[in-house]
Amino acid sequence: MFLKSLSGRFLLLTIVFVMLAEILIFVPSVARFRVDYLQERLERSQIASLTLLATPNDMIEPELEAELLENAGVLNIVLRRDSIRELILASPMPSTIGESYDLRDPGALALIRDAFATMVADEDRVIRVLGQPVKGAGLMIEVALEEAPLRDALWDYGRRILVLSAVISAFTACLLFLAVRAFMVRPIERLIRQIKKYEEAPEDARRIIQPKATVTEIFEAETALHSMETQLSQSLRQKERLAALGGAVSKISHDLRNILTTTQLLADRMEHSDDPRVQKSAPKLLNSLSRAVNLCESTLAFGKAEEAAPSLRSVSMQQMFDDVVEAETLALTNGAVEIVAADVGDIEMQVDEDQIFRVVSNLVRNARQVLAAGKGGQITLQGSQEADGWTITVRDNGPGLPPKALEHIFKPFEGNVRKGGTGLGLAISAELVGGHGGKLKLVDNSDQGAAFQMWLPK
Ligand SMILES: Nc1ncnc2c1ncn2[C@@H]1O[C@H](COP(=O)(O)OP(=O)(O)OP(=O)(O)O)[C@@H](O)[C@H]1O
Ligand SMILES: [Mg+2]
Repeated sequence: MFLKSLSGRFLLLTIVFVMLAEILIFVPSVARFRVDYLQERLERSQIASLTLLATPNDMIEPELEAELLENAGVLNIVLRRDSIRELILASPMPSTIGESYDLRDPGALALIRDAFATMVADEDRVIRVLGQPVKGAGLMIEVALEEAPLRDALWDYGRRILVLSAVISAFTACLLFLAVRAFMVRPIERLIRQIKKYEEAPEDARRIIQPKATVTEIFEAETALHSMETQLSQSLRQKERLAALGGAVSKISHDLRNILTTTQLLADRMEHSDDPRVQKSAPKLLNSLSRAVNLCESTLAFGKAEEAAPSLRSVSMQQMFDDVVEAETLALTNGAVEIVAADVGDIEMQVDEDQIFRVVSNLVRNARQVLAAGKGGQITLQGSQEADGWTITVRDNGPGLPPKALEHIFKPFEGNVRKGGTGLGLAISAELVGGHGGKLKLVDNSDQGAAFQMWLPK
């Protein structure tokens, strides 16, 4: 899991890359180490051999010769001074010469190859090394020495380099890990947290990211996100307002249409007027009204949204009943339908007058439409006041609600079975009553009639 994270990947990759770099450095430096080792033997041998110059015939005591060779770390030395003169120091050889190396003009690749060959050689050989004497002290110097100490020194050097590489790579990786955490992981985590926070409530402008990162790329990402979130929040707020507006328009259209239908019926009567001018303008008025009704109806085809919160005022229940009865009676086309309001006395309700008027009108209007389409009948409005609220009942003696209307009762656009209806009336009514904290219920439904009852809390 950790290795899948950005910091984990960086930690691992840094260790791998530093190790790789150390290996690239290790190969030539091992070769260099071997050359330096052999070169030093040659120089020490050169100094040792020069002691022979102090003797008359280039001869010294065997004990001194052994000591000089031991100090130089070689088995024998030949220093060629010029074409005829050679200085020679020699001691007994443990074995014959296994390999010769010429250090006077070595190729880099050959040095590397020889160094690794020395490291992996498994027998204790004696090797011969040829070199150029320093400070022009002769033409050539040649020494024989045992290979084992050189191999041990090479391995020792290799191990030291390896440990050093491990320490350096661990250290570098840790530093890089911390840097990546501080400069990348932390800012990215902050970005992710911010996006999640914004996602919870995109309309809340306080949740829009404020660019803060010190790393340019992340700062740019934050800036881009900032402007995107700002735009998004703006269009969300705009969308909300439009949705609310759309809902309001729907509801206004619904009830405006009801009012217009009543007016249409009134205009209808103008055709029977005695005044010829009134009679003449009646069809035009009817046309305009029906266009207005159509407009409302097509507006209603659009969605629905929340009603405004009710503004409570003191309203006389009796007055409201009388108003509804008056308006709905005007709209009656069938003489067999009668609308009556019970005497409720002087009950005062604390409600939104317009909204509750719309609810009662909708209920009466539904019943009126059903009764007018059938054999006619009676609609009664009743009301009462209790300790905690008011009850209003609209009852009719019509055929009752058909099953399809019952199934979707109070659901917008769905409960409608009446031709020309939109199925919004009951849904809007229930919502308006709900907005008052009350309840609208179908309390009776049979072939003897239907009764809707609303309860409004104090
Ligand atoms: N008193 C009632 N008696 C019988 N059926 C009713 C009564 N009230 C409502 N309904 C039925 O319930 C359905 C839904 O009524 P609702 O008022 O929601 O819509 P609508 O009257 O069809 O259309 P809208 O009121 O939007 O013009 C009506 O179509 C009607 O069939
Ligand atoms: Mg209706």
